Amino acid sequence: MRINTVLCDLLGIQYPIIQGGMAWVATAELAAAVSEAGALGVIGAGNLPPEAVQREIQRVRSLTSKPFGVNVFLLSPFSAGVMEVIVDERVPVVTTGAGNPGKYMALLKAAGVKVLSVVSTVNMAKRLERAGVDAVIAEGMECGGHIGQIASMPLVPQIVDAVEIPVVAAGGIYDGRGLVAALALGASGVQMGTRFVCATECTVHRDYKKAIIVARDRSTVVIGRTTGHPVRVLDNKLARQVLQAETQRGSGAEIEGFAEGALKCAVVDGDTEYGCLMAGQVAAMVTREESCQQIIDHVMATAYEALERLGGVTAG
Ligand SMILES: Cc1cc2nc3c(=O)[nH]c(=O)nc-3n(C[C@H](O)[C@H](O)[C@H](O)COP(=O)(O)O)c2cc1C
Repeated sequence: MRINTVLCDLLGIQYPIIQGGMAWVATAELAAAVSEAGALGVIGAGNLPPEAVQREIQRVRSLTSKPFGVNVFLLSPFSAGVMEVIVDERVPVVTTGAGNPGKYMALLKAAGVKVLSVVSTVNMAKRLERAGVDAVIAEGMECGGHIGQIASMPLVPQIVDAVEIPVVAAGGIYDGRGLVAALALGASGVQMGTRFVCATECTVHRDYKKAIIVARDRSTVVIGRTTGHPVRVLDNKLARQVLQAETQRGSGAEIEGFAEGALKCAVVDGDTEYGCLMAGQVAAMVTREESCQQIIDHVMATAYEALERLGGVTAG
């Protein structure tokens, strides 16, 4: 039995799994290890300038000859320059977050780049399909980092029904049970972020990984709702300070400033008290550091187990 979906054909990968392109977290080492393991590794460009993204792309190329992608944060002041680097370097796949990549579509399509865009509403999925993206990544609010308002379980099938292009489910997926559930909802694959933060090849500070490993079912909170840009993080002193400021003052701009830069503080300095520990609700399921190969193998093995179990279900 082999789980082969249109996503595998679209991206030239063995397994229908994409590693979320996470700012500061998804470096060349992580992306290359995921791609080597048969899924799609993605560099998180975040707010990096084009030259830095170019170096990461070249580093991935020195580590793997398999397909990989770059995630472009469309609100970054450097996003236009990063798109040019992507085209110059002939990167095979781009994933986009925080907006509509419409103005870059002609450039990317002419260069043969596959474009997958993160969406959290049905309307956005339809708009981006019209803009010509190759697939949408339907991201539920269980995920780590910036979130929408709708959970994966209702979001994914609504988007599957609304568009013709492939849909990738993201948010709340830890193992093969999540993958099979996503396929059952009509998705062609999954994107996972939080579990990969604890990959051996992920270069984030060990204390950030430890915080995810000890996390329980209610360990994440959502900060920044008053700014219009809510973010799911592990509960810590920073999160409580922001939540308190939001209740007392509701000063959006100030709170936005609070969280900005705090992700770097968590990733690089390992500040688990005042760093912004972005993580999704599946943090509770992550119990150890594992290599990307072990993670992918585990997701696929448990997917086959889940399918076998379901094969035994009889209508009653
Ligand atoms: C630490 C962290 C940073 C993230 N940064 C980005 C980002 O820069 N761009 C983006 O499109 N998504 C970002 N995400 C979302 C992931 O790409 C992915 O869609 C999400 O983590 C999937 O849900 P999960 O966390 O439940 O696995 C981030 C997620 C995490 C946990």
